[in-house]
Amino acid sequence: MELSGRHVVVTGGGGGIGGALARRLSQEGAGAVVVADRDPAAAEAVASEIGGLAVQFDAARESGVQALIAQATEASGPIDIFISNAGVPGGMGGPETPDETWQEAWQVNVMAHVWAARALLPAMVDRGEGYLINTASAAGLLTQVSSLVYSVTKHAAVSLAEWLAIEYGDAGVRVSCICPQGVRTPMLELAMDEPAGAAALTAGGVIEPEDVAEAVVRGIADERLLILPHEEVARHMALKGSDPERWIAGMRRLVRNARAGAA
Ligand SMILES: NC(=O)c1ccc[n+]([C@@H]2O[C@H](COP(=O)([O-])OP(=O)(O)OC[C@H]3O[C@@H](n4cnc5c(N)ncnc54)[C@H](O)[C@@H]3O)[C@@H](O)[C@H]2O)c1
Repeated sequence: MELSGRHVVVTGGGGGIGGALARRLSQEGAGAVVVADRDPAAAEAVASEIGGLAVQFDAARESGVQALIAQATEASGPIDIFISNAGVPGGMGGPETPDETWQEAWQVNVMAHVWAARALLPAMVDRGEGYLINTASAAGLLTQVSSLVYSVTKHAAVSLAEWLAIEYGDAGVRVSCICPQGVRTPMLELAMDEPAGAAALTAGGVIEPEDVAEAVVRGIADERLLILPHEEVARHMALKGSDPERWIAGMRRLVRNARAGAA
């Protein structure tokens, strides 16, 4: 899709990857950019830099996503590109993670994308055009060894994007899913506390949020389903698909070596 003149909404736009996306899409000529975040000061700082609209909202509630879409539509008309990028790390560890942490991650990392699609698809189908993008993670294609919650919810976000792309592609709705490995943001700092998680996240090199924005601009131009700012993620996916036993053995080795090295 051509970016010029488009009405774009970026959630989690107050910092990290979302902030870089908002800035870059504005530079690329988007007509209106809405910077949405639960942190109003962060959203305002990015929006004022690019002449966009700051909206405070909570991605963990459907009413929050609906109110954001209503506010953006009232300000600048139908939304052309909605980037559901806000995400939460979901805590370290496995099944022992408390239900409240699971619930928050389901709502922000999965249901926020569902709620956006639910609200936006009818008008996009009527217009025969629209673009839904969510930020999942390489953890949604491979896994994030330090966090079961993050891995499971990001897999769900990838699955959602695939399903929407299959179901709505012929109606003119485009779908992309952004799947980076390590990106230098506050969220990465949290994950670096666990040696195995850090080893997996940094295996492909830590990139900057601006590198993700560059990959997203190219992905939108190509209307690509999977946007992979780290090229090696495609190679790991190919190995996982062709030889899952070897892939699991390699992941176990990575975890063992990282924890032994930290002990
Ligand atoms: N940093 C990485 O290494 C990495 C890698 C892969 C995927 N991701 C994903 O990229 C996305 C952006 O993460 P980031 O690294 O820029 O992290 P970040 O913590 O810098 O930014 C996340 C933003 O989302 C906002 N947010 C969180 N919960 C919200 C809520 N309930 N409602 C509204 N806004 C909310 C935060 O205020 C923040 O501005 C996330 O979905 C994350 O899972 C990050």
